[in-house]
Amino acid sequence: MELTSVYRSQRNSAGCRPGSFNLCSGLLLSAILTACDGGNNNMTPDGGGADTVSFKSIQDSVFSVNCVQCHTATAPSAGLSLTDGLAYANLVGIGSSGQSGAVRVITNDPDNSYLIRKLQGAEGITGERMPRNADPLPAATIQMIKDWIAQGALDN
Ligand code: HEC
Repeated sequence: MELTSVYRSQRNSAGCRPGSFNLCSGLLLSAILTACDGGNNNMTPDGGGADTVSFKSIQDSVFSVNCVQCHTATAPSAGLSLTDGLAYANLVGIGSSGQSGAVRVITNDPDNSYLIRKLQGAEGITGERMPRNADPLPAATIQMIKDWIAQGALDN
């Protein structure tokens, strides 16, 4: 809701008229304070308060660095290509090749997305924690990918 409409609706419900200036300006102040809640300056509609994460930034900082050696364009491990230009279509809404019923990326559901579960080495995954034969990704990097999924897993 826009601030002006917040003001208007509060004004109407309080029955404000030009004569009741003090009451109306008090309500306006509280509407401003509510709208500007200083606790979180990074509010996004879907991301639960995280900064917006673009798929391109994940591609450039994670997939193209840590994954494409195996998840190649032409003969990808697990049939999952993570190369620039192919990764998105190989992930979002695509079933796992290794674990039946699992889906690689489920929009808005990071915890059940198999990509995340493989990166976390979660209980019940098939095969190894990713990246294979390398150190696990830092928790903050996994969180960034989770945020991207929670923000709608956009091709952005
Ligand atoms: C050294 C090779 C290697 C690297 C590097 C690697 N992977 Fe894998 N990946 C594999 C192999 C082999 C499999 C299939 C066996 C398994 O699941 O353990 C696999 C499976 C997966 C799967 C499961 C796919 C499915 O459909 O079930 C995901 C998700 C995955 N990798 C993501 C990644 C990500 C993300 C990275 C980079 C952070 C990465 N991998 C790095 C070799 C690799």
